[in-house]
Amino acid sequence: MTGPDAMQKMIGNATGAAIEVDRVSKTFGGRIRALREVSLRVAPGEVVAITGPSGCGKSTLLNVIAAIDRPDSGRIVVDDVCVTDLEHPAAYRRDTVGFVFQLHNLLPMLTARANVELPLIAAGVPRAERRRRAVDLLAEVGLRERAEERPATLSGGERQRVAVARALVNDPRLLLADEPTGSLDSESGRLVLAVLDRARAQRGMTLVTASHDPVLGDRADRVVRMVDGTITAG
Ligand SMILES: Nc1ncnc2c1ncn2[C@@H]1O[C@H](COP(=O)(O)OP(=O)(O)OP(=O)(O)O)[C@@H](O)[C@H]1O
Ligand SMILES: [Mg+2]
Repeated sequence: MTGPDAMQKMIGNATGAAIEVDRVSKTFGGRIRALREVSLRVAPGEVVAITGPSGCGKSTLLNVIAAIDRPDSGRIVVDDVCVTDLEHPAAYRRDTVGFVFQLHNLLPMLTARANVELPLIAAGVPRAERRRRAVDLLAEVGLRERAEERPATLSGGERQRVAVARALVNDPRLLLADEPTGSLDSESGRLVLAVLDRARAQRGMTLVTASHDPVLGDRADRVVRMVDGTITAG
């Protein structure tokens, strides 16, 4: 089997990634201890919601799991990959991780569709297939009609939905979502959560969110509470 059928089959059989965070610490500027010996295990397919006050280290924890940032000490293993040992984490990020940024990080000169397609370019997916998947995902988040617009003409909530579509487009086994409903009204927030739920049900991916929004905790298998760079519960 080749082409989209093979891809679909692969996705259908995929399971979520397992995460092991082992005594990870991260300091900024030698003073701010964003993470203090944090340990956390997440099972394949589990949905974990990280909560806690602003500045407690939620984004920093997601960033080190995604290998966007490197901890000062400790180890992170995702399935059989020791993420903290990777010298070139680009392939790990491209093949395993989907990331929804707190400040959605869309490229302003590209249309919504082109922003969603970006991760597929790095993965070598042919143009027509890229376009189809990007448009399908934008339709799922309620933005089919806005696919050819640039971020500047979209509202904050619409941009956040584009960012969610982009994070899902490479069918990640691990989705890390930093305040995915942060700038959304409750209706758009529900739309985004429904997309995340559906994606999870189809793909069995592992989902870790960081948020103040209690709705995310209500829908999670487990809530992890952070205070001042440490996990206090969960
Ligand atoms: N690049 C950076 N340089 C310096 N300090 C940073 C940097 N990133 C984060 N920090 C600091 O590290 C601490 C943890 O920040 P982090 O962004 O992880 O918090 P958070 O829990 O995600 O907060 P919020 O709920 O406001 O998003 C904060 O004190 C923050 O100011
Ligand atoms: Mg944050």
